[in-house]
Amino acid sequence: MIKIIEKYINQIIRGDCLELFKDIPDNSVDMTFADPPFNLKKKYTSYKDSLEFQEYLNWCEQWISEMVRVTKPTGSIFLHNIPKWLTYYATFLNKFAHFKHWISWDASTAPMGKSLQPAHYGILFYSKKEKGTKIYELRYPHKRDRKQGYLLKDYGGKKDKLHPFGPLVSDVWTDIYRIKHNKNRDPHPCQLPTHLLDRLILLSTDENNIILDPFSGTGTTAISAKRLGRKYIGFELDKEYVEISKRKLEVVKPNYKLGENWVSFYLNDIITIRNNDWDSLKKYFVVPEPMRTIDFNKTKLTDKKLIPKEKEVIYNINNICEIEKPKRNGNKIEKIKIEETERNIENKRTIVL
Ligand SMILES: C[S@@+](CC[C@H](N)C(=O)[O-])C[C@H]1O[C@@H](n2cnc3c(N)ncnc32)[C@H](O)[C@@H]1O
Repeated sequence: MIKIIEKYINQIIRGDCLELFKDIPDNSVDMTFADPPFNLKKKYTSYKDSLEFQEYLNWCEQWISEMVRVTKPTGSIFLHNIPKWLTYYATFLNKFAHFKHWISWDASTAPMGKSLQPAHYGILFYSKKEKGTKIYELRYPHKRDRKQGYLLKDYGGKKDKLHPFGPLVSDVWTDIYRIKHNKNRDPHPCQLPTHLLDRLILLSTDENNIILDPFSGTGTTAISAKRLGRKYIGFELDKEYVEISKRKLEVVKPNYKLGENWVSFYLNDIITIRNNDWDSLKKYFVVPEPMRTIDFNKTKLTDKKLIPKEKEVIYNINNICEIEKPKRNGNKIEKIKIEETERNIENKRTIVL
């Protein structure tokens, strides 16, 4: 049994998840996360995203059952989708797994067209067993006014008692944005931001735990798992997405760490920490003094060099295996072979069209 799963560890495997699940033993994975096609007619390269209503739900029930089967008794099951489909997922899951939370992710999009268009996604959090699930308290940075830098919430006379890093994470997430710029995107219609996965992984797993994503896309879950020192298994139908994932995973290292503690970095900040880690993390921060000045004084890293750097992966979508670096020449973009460069993580890849 152990041998079978070893074959899949730290791999993105091309194929239909329902077939590939058959090789994964019961109770062998610490966290399963699924971001399936939403049946919204999105333009995937290999998958037709427009099934009949009941056909879609029947298909979902099959892979959801597999997710529960392979998850360990201490493990967690996360399902990302629009609220409409999550209501059906929850009804189904309530029969044989345990509801923990419905996380509402306000991904900060501005839907246009008509009122009450979905502007948030849901992430259902279920556990395999009622008790004994691995789960950790998390904190995120205090929200501030973008221009003035003041705390958004008015804490009145209680500012002295605020946690220097930030509040505990609730079930509404408004601080994680969708990938906005094309230069940071893969050629995939619905790539998730890695710091969303970082948060789920820090919430429910430990170092070296196994995380499985049956709809891996361009490898967001695997990348986050690797950066956080976890093991990953990704299933993906599409050859191109598998290739992109592999290229990105080659340059990613288990370096989302401050000292001994795993943390989630995004741009020049830390987006999620574990509450219990603060005592050993605080030496890496300049904390406002006196504490009430936190109203306009951010808790900052002592040194920006603590933020890990990653090699840049640049690829031509028609020839993914070639690494190229675009060079601007007037308005023309020339393609030249690259020497790999180091840059900050926010600029980690460019798609050369
Ligand atoms: C919503 S996307 C996942 C995006 C991913 N979370 C990311 O950040 O890149 C769904 C993915 O599932 C893949 N897919 C669809 N049906 C599949 C199947 N039966 N088995 C495996 N992958 C499948 C699609 O090709 C698509 O890349």
